[in-house]
Amino acid sequence: MINGKILITGGAGYIGSHVVRHLINEGISPSDIVIFDNLERGNIEMIPKEVIFEKGDLQNKDDIKKIFLLNKISYVIHFAAYAYVGESMVFPEKYFENNVCGGLNLLNAMIENNVKKIVFSSSCAIYGNPKVLPIMENNDKIPINPYGLSKLMFEEILKWYDKIHGMKSICLRYFNVAGAGDGIGEKHEPETHVIPLLIQASISENEFKIFGDDYKTPDGSCIRDYVHVSDLADAHYKALNYLISKNESNQFNIGNGNGVSIFTLIKKVEEITRKKVKFVLQQRREGDPPILTSNSTKANEILNWKATKDINDIIKDAYLWESKKI
Ligand SMILES: NC(=O)c1ccc[n+]([C@@H]2O[C@H](COP(=O)([O-])OP(=O)(O)OC[C@H]3O[C@@H](n4cnc5c(N)ncnc54)[C@H](O)[C@@H]3O)[C@@H](O)[C@H]2O)c1
Repeated sequence: MINGKILITGGAGYIGSHVVRHLINEGISPSDIVIFDNLERGNIEMIPKEVIFEKGDLQNKDDIKKIFLLNKISYVIHFAAYAYVGESMVFPEKYFENNVCGGLNLLNAMIENNVKKIVFSSSCAIYGNPKVLPIMENNDKIPINPYGLSKLMFEEILKWYDKIHGMKSICLRYFNVAGAGDGIGEKHEPETHVIPLLIQASISENEFKIFGDDYKTPDGSCIRDYVHVSDLADAHYKALNYLISKNESNQFNIGNGNGVSIFTLIKKVEEITRKKVKFVLQQRREGDPPILTSNSTKANEILNWKATKDINDIIKDAYLWESKKI
């Protein structure tokens, strides 16, 4: 049973803010939720008024140490990171500094304060170009971009912190997260994620860029596995309960299991928004694998987690959010 304060790094961001609401809906007192965020890529209006908010930067050791002095933290859910594959191919140093070194400051502050339970936002980007599909947790892990490597490095660090310090972690390897709910949704500046970009293109009649139509896939465009942010939020609640009851480290893929190509997404967005999407074909982007689909059986069997929403629900909810109707 969850009993004690939960530190949520990156809780003003897209996924973190949905998880915060989900935890409150599951009965966790807002006064037991401490959000730590530098607001560089998050939004203050996504933070519920009743929770504790501490502004600070993970790359500043004193900022994160202070949180543990001010609050008696029992568990950590760690979202704070940079999360753009494309940006990581231009500025890899930013990804290693923030996602690895910043994360280390957090782990060290946890050890100093005897906090030994963490749920970590990992990514399917750790698998690189998968040889076997759908991807299982024991697939090869050969990232093809610095973002994916930063996540894999952090997973490896967590393994050693378990062995040596007894810190227990659950790594949730998300596939493509999308959708909206609970009155909030995705709000990135700049937006790089495909579903909000497609919906924005359909509403504004701007052109949507397709990066590559010559992949070895049935229609030539990239195939991804989209998981609804509210399903993902539930995975965090279940992962934290598992961590507390079993006190063991583990790793889980969190995806829908269904691959959707970019051209299929365009058709679905057009059906739901009833507007045409103008698109333009561009070169492939470096660091983009052709297909990423998840086998999430392990999360189903061990965490009792399953995706409940499909791509149509995701697009409908994202459209409602983008049209500010939620
Ligand atoms: N969105 C996806 O599809 C996806 C997929 C796989 C993994 N992830 C991971 O999930 C996590 C959350 O993703 P998101 O889409 O919500 O991103 P986001 O950018 O919306 O949220 C990240 C939050 O962390 C904060 N942050 C970043 N660096 C910080 C630092 N040094 N100190 C304090 N706060 C900092 C940002 O201000 C932001 O509020 C990330 O770790 C990301 O890598 C996301």
